[in-house]
Amino acid sequence: MNIIDGKKISEEIKEDLKKEIIDKNLKPSIAIIMVGNNPASEVYVRNKLKACEKVGIKAELFHYEENVSEDEIIDCIEKLNANEDVHGIIVQSPLPYKLREKEDYITNFIKPDKDVDGFGIYSLGCVTSDQTKFLAATPYGIIKMLEHENIDVEGKNVVVVGRSVIVGRPLALALLNKNATVTIAHSKTKNLKEICNMADILVVAIGKDRFITADYVKEGAVVIDVGINRIDGKLYGDVDFESVKDKCSYITPVPGGVGPMTIAMLLTNVVESAKNAIEIKERGKWTRNLKKH
Ligand code: GUN
Repeated sequence: MNIIDGKKISEEIKEDLKKEIIDKNLKPSIAIIMVGNNPASEVYVRNKLKACEKVGIKAELFHYEENVSEDEIIDCIEKLNANEDVHGIIVQSPLPYKLREKEDYITNFIKPDKDVDGFGIYSLGCVTSDQTKFLAATPYGIIKMLEHENIDVEGKNVVVVGRSVIVGRPLALALLNKNATVTIAHSKTKNLKEICNMADILVVAIGKDRFITADYVKEGAVVIDVGINRIDGKLYGDVDFESVKDKCSYITPVPGGVGPMTIAMLLTNVVESAKNAIEIKERGKWTRNLKKH
């Protein structure tokens, strides 16, 4: 069994970005919009700001009080959309309860060229039509980890457990774009165990602490654990690592697996956006800059 070291891979990616930014004299910049004081979001945002600083990406935080209006956030997004020096805009999720229902509506004001989280409908539509622009950080990180380990997905049975708009769905489509045979399973799936047992590559993103045990896993499968569940101050994945580790060929640990990859891929998208902006300026016209992942 091989443990896929997401921490190490993410450090390599960040080191490469740092070099590229210096070599090409790029001035990448991201704006992070955060509303309220969700403790988990505060940690994520702090980590994003720190990571940006480390690789040479300018990051500006727009931190609003919980009672901010929807219009104020949209005004902020519109100003950032128009600012040529800003290459990426993200709205940290989740928004406070009062704005939760409006989250997609608000996020969709981010111009597709700056949607480095890949959560907007344009970005998601691009993945659907195999013309990926910005792939969301978690799916992108998983694809990079598989590539790093030389795990070819073509023709493989991949089961993605979880159908969220920011992980399960874009990941399933990105893998389909790479010619995998993809099944999306979710909380209403019947015979989940049988379906998981067909997987050459099993990706689990359901937010249930150590839910996937050895009886869900085919001998020799690759297991990717997206879960982050905090139990009594300790982090666990959606996969029961101890139970599964001797049955699979590769596994991602929690912590130190998919988690660290997500920030590295967000930064990758910001640098990509900064390069696109230069290209757009040089060409003097808008371009979709679509690429294969
Ligand atoms: N909340 C948890 N993860 C993320 C993320 O990757 N992007 C945003 N915008 N919010 C999040």
